[in-house]
Amino acid sequence: MSDQDDEVLVRQAGRSLLVTIHGAQRALKLYPLENAAVQRAIDDLLAASQTMLQLDGVAEIRLSGDFIFINQTRLRLGLDNFAAFSGFVGLMRGAGIGLLRVEDGVTRREWQAFLSALGALPTAQLPEERFDLLRIRMQQADIVCLEVGTSGETDLDERPADEALERAKRTYAHGVSVARDVVQGVRMGRAPNTRRLKRAVQLIVDQVLENELSITGLTTLRDFDEYTFTHSVNVCIFSVALGRRLGLDRLQLYDLGLAALMHDIGKSRLESAVVNKTTALDDQEWRRMQAHPWYGTLTLFRMREGEELPYRAILAAHEHHMKVDLSGYPRPVRPRRLGFFSRLVAVADGYDAATTRRSYQTTPLEPAEVLKEMWTNPGRGYDPVLVKALINLLGIYPVGTAVILDTFEVAIVAGPGSDAAELHRPVVRLAVDSLGARIAAPGVLVDLSVPEPDGGYPRTIVKVTSPDRYGLIVGDFFV
Ligand SMILES: [Fe+2]
Ligand SMILES: [Fe+2]
Repeated sequence: MSDQDDEVLVRQAGRSLLVTIHGAQRALKLYPLENAAVQRAIDDLLAASQTMLQLDGVAEIRLSGDFIFINQTRLRLGLDNFAAFSGFVGLMRGAGIGLLRVEDGVTRREWQAFLSALGALPTAQLPEERFDLLRIRMQQADIVCLEVGTSGETDLDERPADEALERAKRTYAHGVSVARDVVQGVRMGRAPNTRRLKRAVQLIVDQVLENELSITGLTTLRDFDEYTFTHSVNVCIFSVALGRRLGLDRLQLYDLGLAALMHDIGKSRLESAVVNKTTALDDQEWRRMQAHPWYGTLTLFRMREGEELPYRAILAAHEHHMKVDLSGYPRPVRPRRLGFFSRLVAVADGYDAATTRRSYQTTPLEPAEVLKEMWTNPGRGYDPVLVKALINLLGIYPVGTAVILDTFEVAIVAGPGSDAAELHRPVVRLAVDSLGARIAAPGVLVDLSVPEPDGGYPRTIVKVTSPDRYGLIVGDFFV
């Protein structure tokens, strides 16, 4: 087996180890030890640690800065495992642990005792004090195959080359987790936490201002299971990027980003059976769905900071489905002109919703087709000036579009080309070569707007295609 295969296996096993540690710890927090869910979670954890040990003989998990290493391999952060990863990191940091070593022979009892000890640490103490206490308790519990070390003991000096992308990913994932917490809080009747939300929006705005490409690329990681949360974050990113093009300043972008992130917050007051339904809604369900702008308005009225209400966000939550000709919902009583943020968020919302796979059965429309439809069909009710701005922002071939080239290669659009006048010549990542063979993600980066010395172009887009036809997962080309 090659080193690379090995690394893939270690990464997979490492990931499941982290996910199962997190899962077992959460189950233990919620239920007593003898509960079936807890027992199952510990079974999974034991199985995952054994797989890891069979591979490498030992499993050493280290936290280094914001990265997690398992033995010598760095685990990559993905959306699917973000909750588990951040939960795991929080757990380790809270107890001052920088290193967890799992040795061959680890037993079910040891895992149980370790997780119970970890969960029972007094919260009032400093992480260092908790760490010392944990070590004592591990000794008392006779745990020999699990060992912990402090962060000081993990001095890995590896800095990844793709730091900008990593930062963008963290910002994105952080936004998703904040969005998730807000939705869950609102479901339980809590008002959204203004400070956390603002912080998440600030990070996104800063990222867009600093390196727009790396974060807009992440919107292609549309995760079906996390649709509600990734959708809000995507709408936030598109809105901010669009607002920036239209000349809004940083403070205005903060305001806009917040409005965009919260535009669908009203959905958290609907029954999840309606929100998560993957087939067409019946009449009654549709009526419920149409209530989300109102619920959003009401929810945001509870979100104050001092005396100040987020009134622009309230308006956007209320108006984002109204359509410019007011034929949408809710139906306004009097004629009105939709607010600027509402029109802008509506465009970002429409684009993201249409390009996202909403259920495992349906195929999403290709980004280029969506833009065309938004532009040419006035019935959609978007502000045409803003649709035009979106097209300028995303290009005719938005990031994530799969295209066929005149060389018979298939590529995924990665960003605008270096020649801004040539909208039809973006930067792409080659994904399938001219003989039909797959090129391993993230593919080979090519700028289609760079001509050859004789003035011709080595590659030109012939047409847009569906990534599904080639078995390509667009998100793979951006991680
Ligand atoms: Fe909505
Ligand atoms: Fe939406």
